[in-house]
Amino acid sequence: VSIVADIPQRIPIAAPKRAAATPCVLNIGVIGPGKVGSALIAQLREAQPRLRREANLDLRLRAVADSRHMWLDCDDDALNGRAHGAQIWRPADLGEFAGYLRGDGMQPTLLADCSASDAVAGHYADWLGAGIHVVTPNKRAGSGPLSRWQAIHAAADAGGSRFQYEATVGAGLPVVQTLRDLLDTGDRLIEVEGMFSGTLAWLCNQFDGKRPFSELVREAHSLGYTEPDPRDDLSGTDVARKLVILAREAGSQLSLAEVEVESLVPQALAEVDRDEFMARLDEMDTPMEARRAGAMANRRVLRHVARLDRDGRASVNLQAVPETHAFAHTRLTDNIVQFTTRRYRDNPLIVQGPGAGPEVTAAGVFTDLLRVAGSMGARRCAC
Ligand SMILES: NC(=O)c1ccc[n+]([C@@H]2O[C@H](COP(=O)([O-])OP(=O)(O)OC[C@H]3O[C@@H](n4cnc5c(N)ncnc54)[C@H](OP(=O)(O)O)[C@@H]3O)[C@@H](O)[C@H]2O)c1
Repeated sequence: VSIVADIPQRIPIAAPKRAAATPCVLNIGVIGPGKVGSALIAQLREAQPRLRREANLDLRLRAVADSRHMWLDCDDDALNGRAHGAQIWRPADLGEFAGYLRGDGMQPTLLADCSASDAVAGHYADWLGAGIHVVTPNKRAGSGPLSRWQAIHAAADAGGSRFQYEATVGAGLPVVQTLRDLLDTGDRLIEVEGMFSGTLAWLCNQFDGKRPFSELVREAHSLGYTEPDPRDDLSGTDVARKLVILAREAGSQLSLAEVEVESLVPQALAEVDRDEFMARLDEMDTPMEARRAGAMANRRVLRHVARLDRDGRASVNLQAVPETHAFAHTRLTDNIVQFTTRRYRDNPLIVQGPGAGPEVTAAGVFTDLLRVAGSMGARRCAC
């Protein structure tokens, strides 16, 4: 007996429906909804429908915390509905925050730390050990105490979780991943050199003798290119942190204290308060102009360069590089990183492009998040 024969011919026979694949769910908590954290939340929200449709990946932003508040019901319609769309905050407690996200541990959980806090980095090992993935642009863990860095990696191994920190070095640029790929495929790092500060790159690019250095620092400050206190950029510490992260990625046990850092802040201005520093900025002009003119006389330009040499020595300083050097041809706030390796010995591998800004930094964090999702088996997004 044919069942098909009993069906009137004009009714099309539908192909048997395949059960929809169960979406790959990732519960997400964002710590630090500042410039980068807010951009990440906006990018997540925008990408959610597409990723669900095209990659069967269900990203659920479930919780957000800043230094004083936390919101634990971001995607809970019932709670949000009851509060007429308002999101109710409670005092921040990162232990409770992580516990809420992890729930019964049945669904994958990821924390994106978009703060610059050392205290938050102090939680990573516990979270990773409990199976919670961590992605971050926060340099504190990567450049902090070596023992903590090692404990974080050991915890990730033990917890079967992933720790990704691409955006710590070049914001959205693929710097850490490029180095990792080189090493994973059997290459050996000989030397790494680069300009890792968008702020200092901009200042060096603009400093052509037409305007005093102090005027450029004031302009960079008003454009939001510098930290609130420009000494945080001019001291070179932030760049040194990035160099430590790259060195450790290559297997070195470098610590921040071992990096020789030349601060551009004159000794007399190092300890004064921020307002006094801004008022006395022109004290930098004479020494900076002398260096610029000296470089120009030798057909060179000033560039702020971080370097890990072939003997493992790490330094950060202002250098006069030849006008033909790759670092002389950067634009605006470009970062540039040059890897000299066994394979790229004669002609180093260069990564270059905008290395700061909330949008590109958040995209770097998002890329890490998608790498974690990929490792969970989510299909790669084709677009
Ligand atoms: N902006 C860039 O272009 C850029 C580029 C590369 C890397 N990064 C890195 O990205 C991170 C964020 O930078 P940003 O420019 O977005 O900074 P930001 O605007 O100052 O935001 C920092 C956020 O972290 C929160 N926070 C601080 N301490 C915290 C704590 N203990 N617990 C929870 N939250 C805490 C702050 O909350 P409160 O408001 O409560 O203090 C704020 O929401 C930093 O690590 C930075 O180095 C930034």
